[in-house]
Amino acid sequence: MTKALGRHPIHLYRNALAADARSYGPEQRAILNPQEAEAARREIESWPGFAPTPLVSLPGLAAAVGIGSIAYKDEGARFGLRSFKALGGAYAVYRLLAREAERTGAGPVTAAGLAAGKHRALTSGVTVCCATDGNHGRSVAWGAQTFGCDCTIFIHETVSSQREAAIAAYGARVVRHPGNYDQAVHRAAEEAAANGWVVVSDTSYEGYTDIPRDVMHGYTVMADEALRAHAQTGPPTHIFMQGGVGGAAAAVLARFWWEYDTQCPRFGVVEPDKAACLYESARAGHRVALTGDIETVMAGLSCGETSLLAWPILYGGAEFFATIPDAAALEIMRILAEGVDGDPPLVAGESAGTGLAGVLAAMADGNAAQQMGLGTDSRVLVFGTEADTDPELYEKIVGRPAEAVRRTA
Ligand SMILES: Cc1ncc(COP(=O)(O)O)c(C=O)c1O
Repeated sequence: MTKALGRHPIHLYRNALAADARSYGPEQRAILNPQEAEAARREIESWPGFAPTPLVSLPGLAAAVGIGSIAYKDEGARFGLRSFKALGGAYAVYRLLAREAERTGAGPVTAAGLAAGKHRALTSGVTVCCATDGNHGRSVAWGAQTFGCDCTIFIHETVSSQREAAIAAYGARVVRHPGNYDQAVHRAAEEAAANGWVVVSDTSYEGYTDIPRDVMHGYTVMADEALRAHAQTGPPTHIFMQGGVGGAAAAVLARFWWEYDTQCPRFGVVEPDKAACLYESARAGHRVALTGDIETVMAGLSCGETSLLAWPILYGGAEFFATIPDAAALEIMRILAEGVDGDPPLVAGESAGTGLAGVLAAMADGNAAQQMGLGTDSRVLVFGTEADTDPELYEKIVGRPAEAVRRTA
C-alpha cells in the first residue's frame, strides 16, 4: 500500500514575503499576543475535564514517504467534543460573560462560579449565536450550556444531521439556513442585530474582531502543548495546518513564531482545492472572497472568505499555501485508521488530516517537496484537528466505525 501514498494533484504557492525570516511584528502583535494566549491557557486548563491532547509519532508513515519524522497532534479527545474547536468558541463565550459581569458590576467572575449558576440573573439574559459547519457551533453550544446563557446556532444547507444533533445535544436551538457557510455567517449577523444577541464567530470581518481574537487565543493552547512536547526533540522544521477561514492556522503559526522569532519553523497552510480562499488570497496578495460552489468533503474547511484577523499573520509568516483534492482527504483518513508499518491507528475526521495529506501529496509530487525543503532531514508537525465528528460519515469513508479503529490502537 505504501508505494502509491499521496498521489494527488497539489497546487503550491510559495509566499516570498514569509520566506525571508522576519520577526513577529506590531501588526501581528495587535491581533494575537503571548500575554493573552497565556491567560487563555491558564483559564482553559482550569476547566473540569481539561487534559492535554497527545502528540503522536508516526515513524512508519514518515519512512514510507521519505520524511525524517512526523508528529501528529491528535485533537480528537479535546474536552469530549472531538475537535480542537472546543478551545475557541467556549472560551469566547466565557470571556464575553465575564466581561458582561464586570460591565454590570457583578464581576469579577470565575468559570466555576458561572458554571455553578452564581450569576444566572445576568447570564440567562444573554443569547449567543453563530454560524457553523459543525465544530465551532458545538463548542459555542457547550460553552453556553456550561456557563449558563442561551444559544442559537445557524447551520447551512449541507451540514449533516449528525452534526446538527451533536450541537442540539448541548441545548442550543439549531436553525438550518439555505445556502453555504458564508451565507449562514451573514444570516447569524443579521439575526443577532435584530434580536440583541451576541455573535460568537470563529471568523472576523471589518468591525467585528474582539470575539474572534478570544477564539484564536483559545486555539493557541494546542500549539502551546505541541511546542512543550517538542522540548526534548527540538522544534519541528515544518508545520502544516489545514485552513478554513484561517483562524486556527494563524493561531498555531503565531504561537510558534513568537517563540522562535526569525528561526520559526517553515509554515504551510493546506486547503481543499474547492474552497481555497487562503491560497487565492496569497496569490493575489490580499484577501479575496470566493464565489460559487465551495462544498468539499472537508466540511470544516468549506469556507470562501478569509478571516480578517488571520490574514496579516498568515501572509506575514506562512511560506506555503497549498491545495489538495477531496480524494487526498479521504485517503489520509484511511491511512491514519490503518496505521503504516506499526504506527498507532488514529481516528481522523474529514478535515483532520488535510495538512498531512498536503505533505504526502508534496512528497509524491517531488517538485513541491523540493520547493518546501521536505525530505529525510525534516521534522514535520501536523494537527489532527478532529476525530469522528460525524460518526456515520466516518464509518462510510473508512469502512469501519471509529470505535473499531480505536479498539485496534
Ligand atoms: C476540524 C477542523 N479543522 C480545521 C478547521 C479550520 O479552522 P479555521 O476555519 O479557523 O481555518 C475547522 C474549522 O471549522 C475544523 O472544523
